[in-house]
This record gives sequence, C-alpha cells and structure tokens, in this order.
Amino acid sequence: MQPVLDYLATHRSRFEEELCQYLRLPSVSAQSSHNKDVRATADWLVKHCRSIGLKAKKHATDFHPIVTASTPRHPGKRPHFLVYGHYDVQPPEPLEEWNTPPFEPTIRNGAVYARGATDNKGQHFAHLKAVEAFLKTDTDLGCDLTFVIEGEEEVGSESLVAFLRKKKRELKCDGIVVSDTGMPSKKHPALTYALRGVTAMEITVWGPKADLHSGIYGGSVDNPALVLSQMLGSLRDKKGRVAVPGFYGKVQKLTAYERKQMKRLPINETQYRKLVGVPKLFGEAGYTHHEQRSARPTLEINGLTSGYQGEGSKTIVPSWASAKITCRLVPNQDPRQVNRLLGKQLKKLCPPTVKLEIVDGHGAEAYHVPPTGSMSQAALEALRESFGHEPVLLREGGSIPIINEFKKVLGADSLLLGLALPDDNLHSPNEKFDLDCFHNGAEMSARLWPKLAEL
Ligand code: BES
Ligand code: MN
Repeated sequence: MQPVLDYLATHRSRFEEELCQYLRLPSVSAQSSHNKDVRATADWLVKHCRSIGLKAKKHATDFHPIVTASTPRHPGKRPHFLVYGHYDVQPPEPLEEWNTPPFEPTIRNGAVYARGATDNKGQHFAHLKAVEAFLKTDTDLGCDLTFVIEGEEEVGSESLVAFLRKKKRELKCDGIVVSDTGMPSKKHPALTYALRGVTAMEITVWGPKADLHSGIYGGSVDNPALVLSQMLGSLRDKKGRVAVPGFYGKVQKLTAYERKQMKRLPINETQYRKLVGVPKLFGEAGYTHHEQRSARPTLEINGLTSGYQGEGSKTIVPSWASAKITCRLVPNQDPRQVNRLLGKQLKKLCPPTVKLEIVDGHGAEAYHVPPTGSMSQAALEALRESFGHEPVLLREGGSIPIINEFKKVLGADSLLLGLALPDDNLHSPNEKFDLDCFHNGAEMSARLWPKLAEL
C-alpha cells in the first residue's frame, strides 16, 4: 500500500494538469452543437485510460458513447467492482456569470474552476488516478475493477440502461462505487445512503391562436401567462407543502434515528441561508433545512416561459405559456403515480378558457440502502483514513437514476462516496472542485479497494 500512497503524493501536480486537460473539453450532452466535443471527450478518456494501463473501449450508442476501462480480469476468481461516473457536463450558461470561462480551467484558492470540475469529471478522475497508482507501482488491487463512464447522465442515461442489459454478464459485480454526490465540509467526509428520486413534466397552456394586441383584445380573452401562474401558484400551500391530493400518501416518516443524525451535520440555518443567498429560508414547516432538502418530497418549477422576452415593452396577450416542473421523491413514491396525481390536479385547476397540454418526462425512484453492510463499513474506514476525520452518514436530495438500474439489472448496491463541497456550484456558474477533495478522494479510492477485496 505504501508505494501506492507515495505515488499519489509524488504526482499531484501532474494529476491536476491532466484534470485540466480533461476539463478543457466541452462535453455538454444536452446541446447538439457539442455532439462532436462529446465524442472527442470519450476518445480522450479512452486514450487516457490506456495510458495508465487499463483496457479501455469506447462503445457507440444511439446517442453519446459509453467508455469502459478495466484492470486485468480474473472472472469468478476474485471480487469485481464497478466505478461509475459521467464525462458529460451541464450546459455552462449563463456565460456572463463566470469569472473565468467554463472550459478554460483555472486553479485559484486551492480549487479548479470549470464546468464539470466536480460534476463529475474531477470525482471519477480521482478514482482513475488511484488505480493508476496501483498499476504503475505493480501493486495488486486484490479485486477486479471496471470503470463505466457515460456521456448522458445529465440528460437521462438512456443509452446506459440499454447497455447494462446488453452487457449484464460482463458487468456482473459485487458492488458499484460512485463519487457523484457531496460532503458537508472537508472535515466531514461522507457516505451517502439515500438519494431522492425525481419525476419531470412539461405543461403548456394554450390561449388565442396567436399573440394578440393587449389593448384591442385584452380583457375579453383569457391570458395564458396569468392562468398558468395561478395554476402553479396553487400547487403549494402556505406551510410549504405540495398541494396535490395524494402527493404525500405513501411517504415514509423520518425515523427518530435519522433526525438525530441530521442534527449532527454542520451548516446551521444562518450559514445555509448565506450559502444560497436568500433573504429568508422557505420550506415545509416542521422540518430542518437538512430534512427539507434530502428526506422530504418537493415540487419545483425549473423553467417558466411566456410572451415577449426581449428588450423593452411589447403589449400582447401571449398565445401560450409553459412550465417545466420536477418533483423530488422519497422512498415509496412512484414517479408515474406522482405525475398522474399532479396531472389530475392541474386539469382540475385549469379553466375552460384555455387548453392544457401535459407531457410527462423522465422519472426515477428514490434510493435508500441502510449503511449497515460490510461494504459500507469498509468505505467508512477508507474515508476516515484518507480525510483524517470521522465520516458522516448522509441522505441527499439530488438524484442518480442509474443506480436504481444497477440494482435492478446487476443486482448490486452502490456506495456513494461524494467529493463535492456545498459551495462547488454544481449546475451553476463558477463550478469548482476543491483540490484537497481531489487528492484525498484519490487516496480514499486507493485505500478502499484492498478493503473491499478482503470482504
Ligand atoms: N451529481 C448529480 C446528483 C447529485 C448531486 C446527487 C449532489 C447528490 C448530491 C447528478 O449529476 C445530477 O445532477 N443528477 C440529476 C438527475 C436528473 C437529471 C434526472 C439531478 O439530480 O437533477
Ligand atoms: Mn449533475
């Protein structure tokens, strides 16, 4: 083990330079203008994996390619683990909000700033560097590893679902390690044992056949923007609860044990309020902010569009108004059922003066695996040893839909060992990845494999 740790310590600055190369590639999966860049990123990754001694391959799919990279395999003879990550990134917009351009990685204050730095290139790169250290020092990992790094996580992972089914035999494994979540602070390394699910919907309210002069027609036809606002406004009550009948029907109560654990987490209400930059926090009454954003279901408007968006004034009754909505779900909530309930309520709220169109989007159930198994214990040890602090157990609010598929198709649980700090700006301008988290993360990975191999 020592040669591996020495190797990691010796090559830190080269690792940072390589990560910057990786971050320079604008692999935005949602924007077709970047399709070529996405492919180039997969190619770069394959080449990089080969250079560190892995057997790597790019797999074409119906959309963005998947990269796999493995250590020499000993099928049936020793444990096999997957490391999952995604090389695609969120769109960088709004560009004017970035202090340095999103695809010109810059290191300042001990962090690298770039789109995808923490979500997720930096996080899985830490694992790649750990494995490089084993391979380059001829140290046995004790287990076989396969990296599965996809290019569609930020747009729904559809190709990976099909890929898992197709490669079920090769990908058969004893567990999956995923670093794509967070940790409360550098002194609080974390094992995440629950994530929320999600369900998406897009609705449009159709009014007059075209935008109308609001002076000539206004007052005699309904205004789709107002109708939509009123409908959306009544989806939440004053106590911050989602006002959709049946929404909370199957929701499990938080256990006393979990509530006690959450009280131990750092970041109090005031610090949290400052972190997000609001004048006052708002959430479901009766729950702390930790509980509200990890263990309670929610409804959010993600996008709202209607009428004239350009410079100056334009006096119209818009022809339509639309909204993108997602709900975050907790264990026992079924994404399709929630969409049905929401759709029913929207239809009830919609007046006869407009037409309502509802289009269901992606969905995924919540993930919740108590951290009591031997894999979790091994992970907690590796976190403790590499970060030098007692790890915390987390429920988190984000979603990684593919881990449900890992469970369903491969029958394996995921260890969520996130390296993102609360102020890393995932999906926001000025995304960053802390370099201590990067290097400690690599060490954590290095310490993890021999422990998992022993189980
Ligand atoms: N890495 C995030 C998910 C995450 C972030 C989980 C922080 C826990 C803590 C992932 O890349 C992501 O953004 N997922 C999407 C999934 C959605 C598009 C289905 C999400 O949560 O919005
Ligand atoms: Mn993301």
